[in-house]
Amino acid sequence: STSGGVDRYEMTQRQAKLEILPGVRTPMWTYEGTFPGPTIESRRGRPITVTHRNELPVPTVVHLHGGRSTPASDGYPTDLVLPQGWQDPAHGMSGTQQMTGMHGMSGAHEMHDPRAVVTRLTRDYSFPMDQRPTLLWYHDHRMDFTAPAIWRGLAGLQIVRDDAEDALGLPAGPRELPLMIADRAFTRDGNLCYPALDPSLREQPGVREAYLSGVLGDVILVNGAPWPVHEVDAARYRLRILNASNARHYELEAVTDDGRRLDLVQVGADQGLLAAPVTHRFLPIAPAERYDVIVDFAGVPVGSSVRILNRLGSGHTRDVMAFRVARRAADHSRVPRVLAHDLPTWRRSDAARVRDFSFRAGRMRGGHGWLIGGQPFDPARTDVTVRLGDVEVWRLVADVHHPVHLHLVGFRVLSRSGRAPLPHDAGLKDTISLRPGEAAEIITRFDGYHGRYLFHCHNAEHEDMGMMANLEII
Ligand code: C2O
Ligand code: CU
Ligand code: CU
Repeated sequence: STSGGVDRYEMTQRQAKLEILPGVRTPMWTYEGTFPGPTIESRRGRPITVTHRNELPVPTVVHLHGGRSTPASDGYPTDLVLPQGWQDPAHGMSGTQQMTGMHGMSGAHEMHDPRAVVTRLTRDYSFPMDQRPTLLWYHDHRMDFTAPAIWRGLAGLQIVRDDAEDALGLPAGPRELPLMIADRAFTRDGNLCYPALDPSLREQPGVREAYLSGVLGDVILVNGAPWPVHEVDAARYRLRILNASNARHYELEAVTDDGRRLDLVQVGADQGLLAAPVTHRFLPIAPAERYDVIVDFAGVPVGSSVRILNRLGSGHTRDVMAFRVARRAADHSRVPRVLAHDLPTWRRSDAARVRDFSFRAGRMRGGHGWLIGGQPFDPARTDVTVRLGDVEVWRLVADVHHPVHLHLVGFRVLSRSGRAPLPHDAGLKDTISLRPGEAAEIITRFDGYHGRYLFHCHNAEHEDMGMMANLEII
């Protein structure tokens, strides 16, 4: 609904049994009973308020990933929406930990500062939507429990549009396809299979190690369907791809039945349109990254298929989805040579500060964890204080693969291991895929709002095991 120039949405978070695999029902945690949750369509500059009501058995937190949000609505990990009938917030966390069975597996830290826990039964999240048009996603963000919550289904898409982008003439309507890619594992009877949710799994050899590096599934879902086949016209399509997997990386390619690789023409990154298109043969995508890509099926024979493959997968996880070209059709779309004029041009010399952050494994509270600058996440500690409006360069160093995400701001990639950024680093990002052993530099301006935000690894298990830090904008 709409009132006073604000679009209003209501979302109930509830359990639902969904037919993900044919013929079986999978118990999931959902927004509004679907997976993914309902897609929210927004216009730039038109504020929205989403009222979330929690009917799940555990507290939740909603974060709009990529949103230029105020701190109050950014989904701080201890800013909880309690379930209906939740009795005792003071003892809530331990009860929850028993319920999800997470504690033993992750070495999850207890809450350090109970005063930091804000609790409500329903929660209004308000977003100015004063930002570049792009594909965003909303997902759970509760401290220590984000990974199993997303795995169980708490993720949905939001698309921001504006007149300038609409006027470009990119493929639209049925030829614009948001694609949320996420891997999951299932038990024989159709339950989601997550190490920490199943005590018997925890004890098996190798499971703990697998959990530490991030949980993978052997079924690839696109918009909640396993390896879907989508019928298309022999025309250009705009694929708005999100990797919503907890930990799986993909290198996507589009291959025809006769083995030809179609160009992936990138028009946008995490934070919206590029200045100009970039053509890829294949496209690496880490958890939480988004790519806006044009694929042209015009040269593909009617009746044949184009498979989207993951070059990093093997066996069934090599396949992602397929497009079946069903008919010839007129195509009035275009891909302009200039897409946007508003990309920031920050230079090193604009930076007020250069900071260094390491993303590495380490010990925390006697267990194994993932640390930023040698420390696990602590909601009571401010890790970085930045002045509103300052440009900064951050140097990020990784031991293994870590997709690093900053809340609130978009950034540009300046370098990777002393060399120029990669072709897919173009544009404005909010998540950078740090490769093993790599040191990358990013540059951003911290504009927006005063207050407390986060940055963290978006391997969801790494995030839950400490790889998150507080960023205070003053
Ligand atoms: Cu997509 Cu802090 O998260
Ligand atoms: Cu985010
Ligand atoms: Cu990580």
